[in-house]
Amino acid sequence: MTDEFLGNANFLTSDQTVSASCPSNIALIKYWGKYDQQIPANPSISYTLNHCRTNTTIAFYAGDAFGVQTFLSGKEEFKFAEKIGKYFKTISEYLPWILTGRYVISTENTFPHSSGIASSASGFGAIAKCLMLLDEQFSGKTDHHFLQKKASFLARLGSGSACRSLYEGLVVWGKTPEVEGSFDAYAIPYPNDEIHSVFKNFNDWVLLIHEGEKSVSSTVGHGLMKTNPYAERRFLEAQENFVLLKEILKTGDMKRFIQLVEHEALTLHAMMMMSEPAFILMKTGTLEVINKIWNFRKETGLDLFFTLDAGANVHLLFPENSDADEIKAFVVKELLTHTQNNGLVKDVMRF
Ligand code: PMV
Repeated sequence: MTDEFLGNANFLTSDQTVSASCPSNIALIKYWGKYDQQIPANPSISYTLNHCRTNTTIAFYAGDAFGVQTFLSGKEEFKFAEKIGKYFKTISEYLPWILTGRYVISTENTFPHSSGIASSASGFGAIAKCLMLLDEQFSGKTDHHFLQKKASFLARLGSGSACRSLYEGLVVWGKTPEVEGSFDAYAIPYPNDEIHSVFKNFNDWVLLIHEGEKSVSSTVGHGLMKTNPYAERRFLEAQENFVLLKEILKTGDMKRFIQLVEHEALTLHAMMMMSEPAFILMKTGTLEVINKIWNFRKETGLDLFFTLDAGANVHLLFPENSDADEIKAFVVKELLTHTQNNGLVKDVMRF
């Protein structure tokens, strides 16, 4: 299935330093549940963010004994280095030179570490981009589309959802008959001419309700879907939601978009509540914010809505149009009070 990504036996013979930047992403139809080798149990689609990014520099010392050192915002991180070392071993089939040297990886996020914004997505995306920059120099392959596709493929092997961060705009990962060319091994951009303009200028403001460690890692969360009695129905529902979303994206039906996106977020959390053991990832503030958003929508008819990741923080979504100022004022006046430390990360997607 992925033979096209197997590496040829070339080796890096000189030291190299490469840098790349990659944004995080937020899923609209969620990926939750996977099979071996990071194969998703259902297709997903996300918005790639803009300002929330990881910037990474990799210095490669050719010929040194294999080893990885990592620095996050200048501070050495030993656990992360171990994780990346293991990751490099798992992808050596696709980059045959990868174990033939030593790495010093310096990385920084443009958003708070504890924000619950997926730093694994932007982090693995940036590392995969750096690796393809190294590979490009020695494989002689310069086809941009192939390099981007392989970077998405490699990022997926680090963190599933990271594969969607390699493209801008709306991005699909996982095979679905609704999107031609979609594939389980890497992500592809959703066809631009199938997206109504109202979805191409969108805000994502993240309310930091809780800034601690997540109570369940995504690895554990995906694993719990293996024994969740509702899992098969959920995987099917994600497929069905693609049929609906395709039409919504084309026609620009904002009301149905809101309904579908909020339903997806609540379903992800419902799955965790119905797992064994069960997890409740929302905090009181999350529920208060959701209720306020629903009341605001009822009273004003304005298009403010939410999605959630596997945590308590709330992604506030709203189109950037003439109503945006009223929505922004409401967020600052009414919702900010539910955050731990006035934490609000503002991003906007334009494509
Ligand atoms: O990529 P992972 O293994 O961290 O899983 C991420 C899953 C969610 O963020 C909850 C949903 C998604 O599709 O991004």
